[in-house]
Amino acid sequence: MGGEGLASTAVVEPIETLQRVRWLRDALNHHAHAYYVLDAPEIPDAEYDRLFAELQALEAAYPELVSADSPTQRVGGQALPELQPVRHAVPMLSIQTETDTTAVGAEQFDARVRRELGLDLADPEVEYAAELKFDGLAINLRYEAGVLVQAATRGDGETGEDVTQNVRTIGQIPLRLRGLAPAVLEVRGEIYMRRDDFEALNERQRVAGEKTFVNPRNTAAGAIRQLDPALVRQRPLSFFAYGLGEVQGWNLPPTHAGVLDALAAFGLPVCARRTSGQGASALVAFHQLVADERDALPFDIDGVVYKVNSLALQQQLGFKTREPRWAVAHKYPAQEQATRLNGIDIQVGRTGKLTPVAKLEPVFVGGTTVSNATLHNLFELRRKGVRIGDQVIVRRAGDVIPEVVGRMPGRRAAYVPNFRMPSQCPVCGSAVERDRGSVEHRCTGGLVCAAQRKQALLHFAGRRAMDVEGLGDKLVDQLVDAELVRTLPDLYRLGFVHLAELERMGERSASKLLERLEASKQTTLGRFLFSLGIRHVGETTAKDLARHFGKLDALLQADEAALLQVKDVGPVVAHSVRSFFANPMNLEAVEQLRACGIRWDESEGASTGEGPLSGKTVVLTGTLPTLSRDEAQALIEAAGGKVSGSVSKKTHYVVAGESAGSKLDKARELGVPVLDEAALQVLLTTHSSSVST
Ligand code: IVH
Repeated sequence: MGGEGLASTAVVEPIETLQRVRWLRDALNHHAHAYYVLDAPEIPDAEYDRLFAELQALEAAYPELVSADSPTQRVGGQALPELQPVRHAVPMLSIQTETDTTAVGAEQFDARVRRELGLDLADPEVEYAAELKFDGLAINLRYEAGVLVQAATRGDGETGEDVTQNVRTIGQIPLRLRGLAPAVLEVRGEIYMRRDDFEALNERQRVAGEKTFVNPRNTAAGAIRQLDPALVRQRPLSFFAYGLGEVQGWNLPPTHAGVLDALAAFGLPVCARRTSGQGASALVAFHQLVADERDALPFDIDGVVYKVNSLALQQQLGFKTREPRWAVAHKYPAQEQATRLNGIDIQVGRTGKLTPVAKLEPVFVGGTTVSNATLHNLFELRRKGVRIGDQVIVRRAGDVIPEVVGRMPGRRAAYVPNFRMPSQCPVCGSAVERDRGSVEHRCTGGLVCAAQRKQALLHFAGRRAMDVEGLGDKLVDQLVDAELVRTLPDLYRLGFVHLAELERMGERSASKLLERLEASKQTTLGRFLFSLGIRHVGETTAKDLARHFGKLDALLQADEAALLQVKDVGPVVAHSVRSFFANPMNLEAVEQLRACGIRWDESEGASTGEGPLSGKTVVLTGTLPTLSRDEAQALIEAAGGKVSGSVSKKTHYVVAGESAGSKLDKARELGVPVLDEAALQVLLTTHSSSVST
């Protein structure tokens, strides 16, 4: 990578500037392809950002050097008053759909093709290409001399809309083709939204109290027709190429599979899940294979597409009105279905959150029968306007839990009152509250509420909290249901007789559990604080609090201002900690736990965080030869370091052991130094400043 800094650009001769601009553009295009299309970045994000900033600065100084294919041109763009019509050079056709979702669909298509081609039984099989039918919206990308000059929607097939500005914001779509590009190349494909991107977008909307989107397809289609490209950028879109429009100055490969390979070589994203093979049996096999992996795909599909592979045969087959005779879509059962909303139940989650759950007339959707689906919260429910008795649309795609996305249009036969949240928790009867500005209702019962109590106990006993081995799901259910444990301190008052009487328990297990409970009493302040399950106080925050205050009493007395002094503690955490300890029931539980004999070394908590690793973030991955993960973490923390679960630009070291996985790859990708256990041991005993990275 070139190293000249920005400061020197002013004295660079224009010819060198031009060369530098070209070099930067090529480098950025190359890295964008590696990042977006191949999903295999070659340089750290920070390095990409640096190159990008340099190009931006040069283009600002020499505006005449700005070109349409410059990576800087993905952003800008004014909002439009309306989208302009575009006449397609080659019409964008639709595709015939095979409605029989069984294997018969593929056989019928093959039979039709053979008939049209005049083949009889003695003739060899026809070769087909098979690919996925992406559930998004069709787009035509026009490249002239390798540069993206126009992107248009399908519209009515003859005339679409110019959405070039919006399409430019999609990182996966190259602004310039790689290699020797034809004079004109129109690429057709599908713009879609990945499921994880869709879920994350909806989660952001929920948190912001804004409307959520119904499904990835509608969201993608809506985004691409936005008038303001700045809004489009907030909707993460993806693209797959699957065909051609107008082509000039290019010797077409002889097959469709060859065309797709060529498009991939031009730098366009082409889905890897595709095949070619002989006759109907190859199509049936592909249909089955994809059906099995449909739920695991990162995006929605509504079927597969079969195409006659030979372009010469495609030409021979031709079209009938709006559809080619050489292609067919073979569908799968839908991931959205309509059914009746029979009722609405309230589920109390582990944090006390109340979730309205739709009780549905059982319906087969996305491969299973669904009779419950989430409505998320009261506001979502109201926004969707669903009422008991309505026909509603249920969506189940991939691993995502089924949800009600809306109601079918139509009038209600009778008046149905709007659903209301209960004012009392259906599990414990405690008051239900909603924080100002929040869309969530929650039960205020805390440990009084059995739904939350079980979860609180499991959390308390967890390996990273008080670490009471053997206190799992089943036992907690038994203890709570038999009313042996109501509060956290009750755990330490369990008697041998009661325990041994529990089903599947016996004397041996009972005494073992009591031993483990006894052993758990010797802990650290950080673990103890974490085990209380204070909202927003995770393991790291608990440790930071312990380190900062040193003594439990100091923390109990701290007001919000004092809490805000703690590293990484903001108003939300400070408020949550303060209200936890302001609740007399929680204070009582803490006091009783202390009275039960829970103890920690008060000085341990007060450690200043000074040490050879102070200020350093370390990620552990794989199995180390001698240290367990917890031991390694303890050593790193004792040396002032912080252990994090994921590798980022901010990670200082990754310590890798045997069968280290993606974290190691990520470290290499980002250039984060990777150490083995021996190197870690050296680091722990050396002063940090003397360690060269
Ligand atoms: S080929 C002339 N291939 O399905 C054939 N279409 O009606 C043109 N689609 O709106 C279509 N995945 O956007 C083709 N692998 C694929 C596809 C695909 C999705 C969409 C396309 C069009 C509709 C076909």
